[in-house]
Amino acid sequence: TKMSRIFSGVQPTGNLHLGNYLGAIRNWVKLQEDFECLFCIVDMHAITVWQEPAALRAHTREVAAAFLAAGIDPRRHIVFNQSQNPAHAELAWIFNCVARLGWLNRMTQFKEKAGKDRENASVGLYAYPNLMAADILVYKATHVPVGEDQKQHLELARDIAQKFNNDFGVDLFPLPEPQIFGAATRVMSLRDGSKKMSKSDPSDYSRINMTDDADAVALKIRKARTDPEPLPGPSVLRPGGGVDPAAEAARPEAFNLLGIYAALADKTLAEVLTAFEGREFS
Ligand code: AQP
Repeated sequence: TKMSRIFSGVQPTGNLHLGNYLGAIRNWVKLQEDFECLFCIVDMHAITVWQEPAALRAHTREVAAAFLAAGIDPRRHIVFNQSQNPAHAELAWIFNCVARLGWLNRMTQFKEKAGKDRENASVGLYAYPNLMAADILVYKATHVPVGEDQKQHLELARDIAQKFNNDFGVDLFPLPEPQIFGAATRVMSLRDGSKKMSKSDPSDYSRINMTDDADAVALKIRKARTDPEPLPGPSVLRPGGGVDPAAEAARPEAFNLLGIYAALADKTLAEVLTAFEGREFS
């Protein structure tokens, strides 16, 4: 039988939040029963934007601790930081020569992170997806559990694997499959439902940190932005599952809170919509 291997990582750029947990880490804990796994603290990705060296070291250990606290078993799986293995950087260079400029120019994360001051962004921030492809393919990982925001980078990793195999007439790299699942694959900011929950948002009220205590979590949920309408019901679901995009775009804060609730209560969104239709946010 063909071996199935997972690679996935988190950047040590600050406190982990509920988006990292629901989009990635919680799914890893489930998947570790069925796959051989490598869970990585991707410190070389972190330095694509400025990091204070001492803070980077501390965050690297904190993210490792969060993996263990979330239930990753380091006796059965490999937990490490990326810079410990120079093979990531070596293969990334080769992939810099495989990936096309046109492919990287389409990456929305670079556009968002570089913002208006693109000329001043690091070359590393631009080439980030090539390093990510190397992280995965250096171990010939077949599956990559990530949040929705990483889908485009994973498609690029597949394109790189395919082009390398074609160019050299080999069957060396598997085409890695994204694993994006759960009721909250894209957790949004509690202050602005159109922005994803992120470590680098200046407002701490925008996110729930994995280190927040119960009182802080309750306060942030109470203060979360809402809208004046009562909660929607299951009529917003499309026949194939998933929320009608127009309905979601009209009330992003409502669907964010419903998705978070469903994920944490281990219910489907349909169950939650049925249970709370017409009720107040409170
Ligand atoms: N809001 C989110 N919803 C669902 N999944 C998310 N992930 C990140 N944010 C969300 C997933 O968490 C994993 C690790 O992400 P990362 O820390 O490596 O990178 P990031 O996406 O850049 O995280 P942040 O919080 O947005 O950091 P900053 O602010 O530093 O840029 C990935 O699987 C990601 O999909």
